[in-house]
Amino acid sequence: MSKKRILTGDRASGSLHLGHYVGSIINRLKLQEEYDCYFIIADYHAYTTLYERPKEVREASRSIFVDYLAVGLDPEKSTLFVQSMVPEHSELYLLFGMLVTIARAQRIPTLKDKLDDLHLEEGLASLGLLGYPVLQAADILLYKADRVPVGDDQLSHLELTREIARRFNFLYGSTFPEPEALLSQVSRLPGLDGQKKMSKSLGNDIALQHSSEEVTERVRSMVTDPRKIRKSDPGHPEICTVHAFHRAFNPEGAEEIAAACRAGRLGCVEDKRNLGVFLNAFLDPIRTRRQELLTQPQRLAELLSYGCGKAREAAGRTMAEVREKMQLGDHLF
Ligand code: TRP
Repeated sequence: MSKKRILTGDRASGSLHLGHYVGSIINRLKLQEEYDCYFIIADYHAYTTLYERPKEVREASRSIFVDYLAVGLDPEKSTLFVQSMVPEHSELYLLFGMLVTIARAQRIPTLKDKLDDLHLEEGLASLGLLGYPVLQAADILLYKADRVPVGDDQLSHLELTREIARRFNFLYGSTFPEPEALLSQVSRLPGLDGQKKMSKSLGNDIALQHSSEEVTERVRSMVTDPRKIRKSDPGHPEICTVHAFHRAFNPEGAEEIAAACRAGRLGCVEDKRNLGVFLNAFLDPIRTRRQELLTQPQRLAELLSYGCGKAREAAGRTMAEVREKMQLGDHLF
């Protein structure tokens, strides 16, 4: 039996950070052994908000691609590609646009979050931003993915994807599977400032590409338990950001560290120093692989074009079927 297919990916709006690593990359490294995986770098999606900053989107796309390879996503086992290099995405998006009412698109909860971030009033979303989840549906269905690993913030997009698949199948004949979410049980990493989520735009992240000095500095700036002023004060690791990182990256050592912190035997300065060393030891091999890749731009270009070629082949097959089912131009005579 052929492998089940997975599609997931990242909006090209910034470099990957430790939050991505814990929240999705670890999971993808496992999934690529079992499934036929497609990993998309969604640069069109980035343009829904960053349309004035093409350089940033380009830099993000490049850096995500190199990081995919550096962390060990395997271009032979999986298909790594950039959305804008597979024009079929925009064609399917256009056709799906007919199947979704404006009111339905406006009810997607992430739209309101995006508008809040942009300090825009409702009704001032661009058509592109309104269409964000429709484009995501095209990403997924173009490859007839069975499973989509996403965070819970993306569930509303997956629900719309399933609706579009059903509607298309009803109108034009059975074509698309209804993909299911694959919710990962992995923990969410807080930001350095203790906020719920690590995010580059909040400046509270540790990027996979930060230097070891930068990582040490960022760890030093992390918030800890505000009630622990001196080393001898009893700490509360369960509310400490530094400790959340220990649990994610140093699970075997975490219990002992928590005990020493509570007992007043371990101070925050030393705790952070240890965490910095830990994170750098984790990041070093990734940095080495990234540096190696960056000295071979030719090879990077080849790997990208290889992945995009594989994606285009699959996408082309689906679009031929869609055009036939919808009796578009090439089926007139
Ligand atoms: N919207 C996703 C995010 O913000 C990124 C994305 C684009 C995606 N296309 C996708 C995720 C298709 C899963 C499947 O993280």
